[in-house]
Amino acid sequence: MNDFAIEKSWQVLQTHGAEMASLHMRDLFAKDPDRAQKFWREGAGLALDFSKNRILPETMTHLLALAKAAGLEQKRAALFAGEKINTTEDRAVLHMALRDHREGLYKVDGKDVMPLVLAERAKMKSFCADIHSGKRLGASGKKLTTIVNIGIGGSDLGPAMVCEALKPYWLQGQRVFFVSNVDGADLAGVLQQIDPETTLFLIASKTFTTQETMTNAQSARQWFLAQGRSKADIARHFVALSTNSQAVSEFGIDGDNMFQFWDWVGGRYSLWSAIGLSIALTVGYDNFEKLLMGAHEMDRHFQQAPMEDNLPILLALIAIWNRNILGMSAHAVLPYDQGLHRFPAFLQQAEMESNGKSVKLDGTNVTGETCPVIFGEPGTNGQHAFYQMLHQGTDIISADFIAPARSHYEMGDHHAKLLANFLAQPQALMQGKSLAEVKAEMKRAGASDGDIETIAPHRVFPGNRPSNAIIFEKLTPQSLGALIALYEHKIFTQGVIWQINSFDQWGVELGKQMAGAILPELSVSGEAKPKVSKHDASTNRLLNHLNDMRQSGA
Ligand code: F6P
Repeated sequence: MNDFAIEKSWQVLQTHGAEMASLHMRDLFAKDPDRAQKFWREGAGLALDFSKNRILPETMTHLLALAKAAGLEQKRAALFAGEKINTTEDRAVLHMALRDHREGLYKVDGKDVMPLVLAERAKMKSFCADIHSGKRLGASGKKLTTIVNIGIGGSDLGPAMVCEALKPYWLQGQRVFFVSNVDGADLAGVLQQIDPETTLFLIASKTFTTQETMTNAQSARQWFLAQGRSKADIARHFVALSTNSQAVSEFGIDGDNMFQFWDWVGGRYSLWSAIGLSIALTVGYDNFEKLLMGAHEMDRHFQQAPMEDNLPILLALIAIWNRNILGMSAHAVLPYDQGLHRFPAFLQQAEMESNGKSVKLDGTNVTGETCPVIFGEPGTNGQHAFYQMLHQGTDIISADFIAPARSHYEMGDHHAKLLANFLAQPQALMQGKSLAEVKAEMKRAGASDGDIETIAPHRVFPGNRPSNAIIFEKLTPQSLGALIALYEHKIFTQGVIWQINSFDQWGVELGKQMAGAILPELSVSGEAKPKVSKHDASTNRLLNHLNDMRQSGA
């Protein structure tokens, strides 16, 4: 990394950005018949079309120079070498080891982590086999066919998203539920649907101290006992997925019923670890392995493909261009696949918790912008909700359109219609429709001159709105693994360029601390509480009013 070279690269990009401001992508496509070919890359079973961005080949040259100046290649090597790149927590970042099988490559403090990884994977495999074969039964001798994963953040979003995406692979008779919110409605809603005799609870928490998860786990245990089950039965129905064996044993789950992972697995990067047990139990261990293999293939691509052909690097550089040079503050993730309906929510945590930072690794403030707002919905639902703003809003919002060529649910022309929309939306965002075109169209349709004057401006689409398209053959465990890893490495690459630590999350602490202080002041079950005046006036007023309402039963 060379500060001077970095600064210079940013300056080159700013100047280039100003030159690009007046260009419209419509003209760029018209001028260059090879454009789609130039900005198309493939890797690990995925294809990326980034031609519908406001870029020229020299844009990519400048962006790649920035990545080089920021020391991306060295930092990528440090990541894979297990260096403690999460400096504020003094931790390595090695989720890639979880989807590899080769020993001797991933070391923390000089010690190979693979024997631990492989042993835990073997334990998961045999546990799944025992559950699925009925060798391991519930306390009353019934098969454990219902999985309830209790966890939040990375201990929920990843496995929940994957289980939804891989629904066509669910083992027959197997059901899975995810409980995350401390709002009792979440747990209550699941408890209504399950039978304690056939349910296996997975308490998923890296720290095993998270308020929401511990509260839900305690309540689930109480419910289980209240259903006529004994304390001795708990061992057959509760399993822990964690790094904290002491807290797990204090909760009452013994070592045999605990699946481990390690501090070098970040919460939002943990679905590949024991945190993925809900996935393996739902789709079968072999499919879980295929998910790992898909991610591993993307790891290899990220490590080995030249930077200019490297999908995660290109995706990150385009995002940097849109965010830092063209000033876009939001990015939409738009999967045209119902199975991926939780993918935007997963990426919200992955991207925003990783890169929503404003202090650099050296402790100084960042000077430009970092992570944009990430949001999204599956297509075509989003089209009937917020796409209006994507097409005609005052903010320009970049987007990733994601789609498989084939569906697991080929039904008449459903998938062709889905794909027609997947193709049309980025096309419309890019091309737009000018006032002259709108007027001509209205004239052809027989509109009066008066109507044309008043209505036409409302029907103009400025276009020139950027998007990427990511396509693959079918949503399988492999392609899903590669897709998730693509984004993980995109996030890493952006963090390197912004010079921030993508792997800590101090921003979640203050609210947790304050909630801890407020909790004792709240009426738990309608009991009277003294008036509170020690907070700011707004918090005092809200808290006292809530207590009044809780006490009066209003
Ligand atoms: O929201 C903060 C956070 O620490 C996330 O990073 C993490 O995924 C989540 O809480 C859950 O943490 P744990 O797995 O330790 O319960």
